[in-house]
Parts: sequence; C-alpha cells; structure tokens
Amino acid sequence: MVEFALPANSRPVAGKTFKAPAGAKRVKSFKIYRYDPDSGSNPRVDTFEIDTAACGPMVLDALNKIKNEIDATLTFRRSCREGICGSCAMNIDGTNTLACLKPIEDVSGDVKIYPLPHMPVVKDLVPDLSVPYAQYRSIEPWMKAETPPPPDGERLQSPEERAKLDGLWECILCFCCQTSCPSYWWNGERYLGPAILLQAARWLHDSRDEAAGERLDALDDPFRLYRCHTIMNCTNTCPKGLNPAKAIGSIKQMMVERR
Ligand code: SF4
Ligand code: SF4
Ligand code: FES
Repeated sequence: MVEFALPANSRPVAGKTFKAPAGAKRVKSFKIYRYDPDSGSNPRVDTFEIDTAACGPMVLDALNKIKNEIDATLTFRRSCREGICGSCAMNIDGTNTLACLKPIEDVSGDVKIYPLPHMPVVKDLVPDLSVPYAQYRSIEPWMKAETPPPPDGERLQSPEERAKLDGLWECILCFCCQTSCPSYWWNGERYLGPAILLQAARWLHDSRDEAAGERLDALDDPFRLYRCHTIMNCTNTCPKGLNPAKAIGSIKQMMVERR
C-alpha cells in the first residue's frame, strides 16, 4: 500500500499577486498552484501578471519568465521544450497537457495552472510520479526473446509488423492520460492506468518479442487491466494524439483470443 503524502488541507487559498510592470502592453494573469510541504503552510494560488508582448508564445515560456524574472522559487519540471521529454506535463485551464506545447493565446481569460491531478505533490507543479514509474517497471518494458538474433544482422520486421507499433512507440510517458483517468484516481495502486497499459501493448504488438503469453498472464487480473471502463478521458487528453483506450482494448482482445 502506497502512502500518499497529500497536504492536510489540499484546497488552495488565495496567495500573493505580482503586478505587471509599468508600461506592460498585453497583460495576462497566470494563477499558479504553490505548495511547499516543508513550509507547513496550506497550498495557495499565486497570481502573476505577465506582459505577453515580452514573453514567448507558450505557457512554458511564461513559467520560465516568472521563474527567471519574478519568483525563482517557482518549481516545475521541464527539459526539451519540444514536446519530446514529457517533463512539463501539468493541468492548464482544466486540461492535462504539456506546457511547452500549449499556446498562451489558446486560453481565454486567466491561465490557471495546477499540477497533474490526484497525485501527491512534491512542490508547486511537480507531482510525485514514483507509483507510475514503479508500475512501468512492473510491465518489464524491454524486448524479451530466447531466439538469438541473426549472427550477421538485426532482428528484422516487415513493414506490416513495424506498422503495428505506430500509435504506441510515440508515447513520451508524460502521464497526462494516467492522471486524467477516473479509474486510476480511485484505484491508482492496483490499476496500471492508460499510460502503462499503452506501453504494455507496445511490447505485446512487437513481432520481435517472444514473451506475449507471460506478459498477458501478468496483466490478467481484475485490477491491473480490467479497471478500464472505457471512459476515454485518456484519449481525449493525450497531447501526442495517441489513443490509450484503443491500446487497452487491443490487450483485452488478445486476452479473449488466447482463451
Ligand atoms: S478509457 Fe480506460 S484508461 Fe482511459 S480514462 Fe477511461 S477508464 Fe481510464
Ligand atoms: S499516451 Fe499520451 S498522455 Fe499518455 S503518457 Fe503517453 S504521451 Fe502522455
Ligand atoms: S519540456 Fe519536454 S515535453 Fe515539455
């Protein structure tokens, strides 16, 4: 059983307001969740008024501007700023997405930014992803094959075999889908969730992998796989346009076909 270290009162209170600089041309308010477990204080929402005329176009640009110019203690993950690393996943304007791919101008009114929902918070916009990463390890996400590769080359796939991995390999493990899934909210310690199941499907559909039976055995459990009730939040929120619900359906289909 995983202990979730949620703050005693997780409903944030109004925090500080940082006014736009004099002469700002195009002001937009960013309302950002702040929480520092070491402070002993309840979470709060700070307001930063930003001159978007002097800021890059994406929400991540605004977060970087705030951190660099206004409040260096604002904490969030980011790395590639290209939608590749998955680090900057957060809840923006009520939707889980990547801050580096979310244009500021797509948000009408104030930009409300919270950490990915239903996860313990390490600090500000940084969720504790220990549980989903442990779940990822549990599906053994690497190729398993007893047959040795050809002595003079690689394990080849036909174009048709390779095409079966499209829609799966592109996942960047940002966990936007995982943390949007109501089944995962309520059974996060036992249900693997859409991101991990999409990764499981990625190996099940790989023609070079020889452990499909073993992988299906490990998933054949009332909680690990079958807590998906096809609510589709996962597919609706994926910032890479992937379809975890379809991938989960394909695993269920494989389960039926082997019986
Ligand atoms: S389709 Fe399944 S995995 Fe996706 S949000 Fe719904 S219950 Fe969760
Ligand atoms: S399926 Fe999409 S939302 Fe889910 S972890 Fe992968 S890239 Fe992120
Ligand atoms: S910073 Fe890498 S996905 Fe946004």
